[in-house]
Amino acid sequence: MTDDQFDLHTGYVTFKNPIALATMAGITNSTFANEHADRAGLVVIGGYNLDEKTNDAASKLVARGRDEFISDNPFGFLKNEIEGVGGDSVVAVNVRSATIEPLLEAARIVKDAEAILELDAHCRQEEMVSIGVGEALMHDIPKLVDWIGKIKKTGVVLSIKIRANVVNDIDLARAIESAGADILHVDAMKEGPGADLHAIRSIRDSTNMFLIGNNSITCLKDSKDMLARGADMISVARGVLNDSNPNLISELVDDITNYQEAAGWYNAPKHICGGEGDLRALAFCCLPVKPCAVHNKIGKLGFSAQEFTNLKMEFAKGTMLEYGDSTCFGSLVWCCKLSKPCFLRDGVMDMIDLSGAEYMRLKKNLATYILENAKIPVNEC
Ligand SMILES: Cc1cc2nc3c(=O)[nH]c(=O)nc-3n(C[C@H](O)[C@H](O)[C@H](O)COP(=O)(O)O)c2cc1C
Ligand code: SF4
Ligand code: SF4
Repeated sequence: MTDDQFDLHTGYVTFKNPIALATMAGITNSTFANEHADRAGLVVIGGYNLDEKTNDAASKLVARGRDEFISDNPFGFLKNEIEGVGGDSVVAVNVRSATIEPLLEAARIVKDAEAILELDAHCRQEEMVSIGVGEALMHDIPKLVDWIGKIKKTGVVLSIKIRANVVNDIDLARAIESAGADILHVDAMKEGPGADLHAIRSIRDSTNMFLIGNNSITCLKDSKDMLARGADMISVARGVLNDSNPNLISELVDDITNYQEAAGWYNAPKHICGGEGDLRALAFCCLPVKPCAVHNKIGKLGFSAQEFTNLKMEFAKGTMLEYGDSTCFGSLVWCCKLSKPCFLRDGVMDMIDLSGAEYMRLKKNLATYILENAKIPVNEC
């Protein structure tokens, strides 16, 4: 397997795998990342406070028992922290500031290090929110959009960290994408335990941004559940703490790498008929001849049933998906996900010597082809 087996790129960064460490202020510094996440595709360290106001707010948080990174030399501290991360994981720094200038200064430092700047629009601590930081940015979309545009002018790869279910997720994601951000890092928090997988799927179906899904991941199943809703990458914060599983990141890297080798599409979607599939799952849909959920989905992309049929047939031409006379609709291009047992499809695959992983890689390319050729783009539909 190559270093690029997951094909994960954005801007000047390439991630070696889709597992990330997420920030915990006062905890996730370079030392923590080296100890717990040296095999991660991405380590997000911080959150770092870049100006006097956020450092003062952090001091108040410390006074009431929370951990924070406080510094009277924030940019020197930031630089040292980035340089302190060993190994070949991509580094992102999660940052907060009450004004734009410190963010621009940080962006220049981060870009020179070929790292990622992650703007914290997530923090809900009152001391931060009351000075217009963290979650306050989700409630002030014009300001957030303005800041993103200015930061992007530095050329830095920019991630925006948000929490789901605070404002309208789709409006927020689209505003962030139009403003030019590269990555959307979503804490899929909901009321009660577990992550809001539905939020990840709706965001996937509304934006083309690189999507990192986060919340309550403690094992391979949690990771696969979130990836199957369209996250390109998943991140873990609390699950890595000592009283949870300090080796979790390394275990997930091994598990997801083995899964990708065997299954060919580590974040393959669920089927649409189950109600959980995102638009990429059109790659597994039948010929649209009966009344079912496919019609609503292709309608969103502006296709008639005939146009959708033509598009899939066009993709299949000259590929292994063209075969399959004995399948339900006469070609593998209409066939189901490999996880659905089917002796008809498997018989054809045996006959043409097509491995399961290769079948799924073709379906992944088909999904990309469908979305790239949509008459109404995903971020407008
Ligand atoms: C102690 C602690 C501190 C955190 N600090 C930050 C922060 O500074 N910036 C940020 O964007 N998210 C912060 N988070 C949120 C986490 O990155 C993550 O989104 C959240 O904990 C859900 O993921 P998990 O279930 O894997 O922990 C913090 C979380 C915890 C528990
Ligand atoms: S076309 Fe087939 S796979 Fe797609 S939603 Fe309809 S029944 Fe399900
Ligand atoms: S042949 Fe099997 S895999 Fe193909 S569409 Fe029919 S049920 Fe699905």
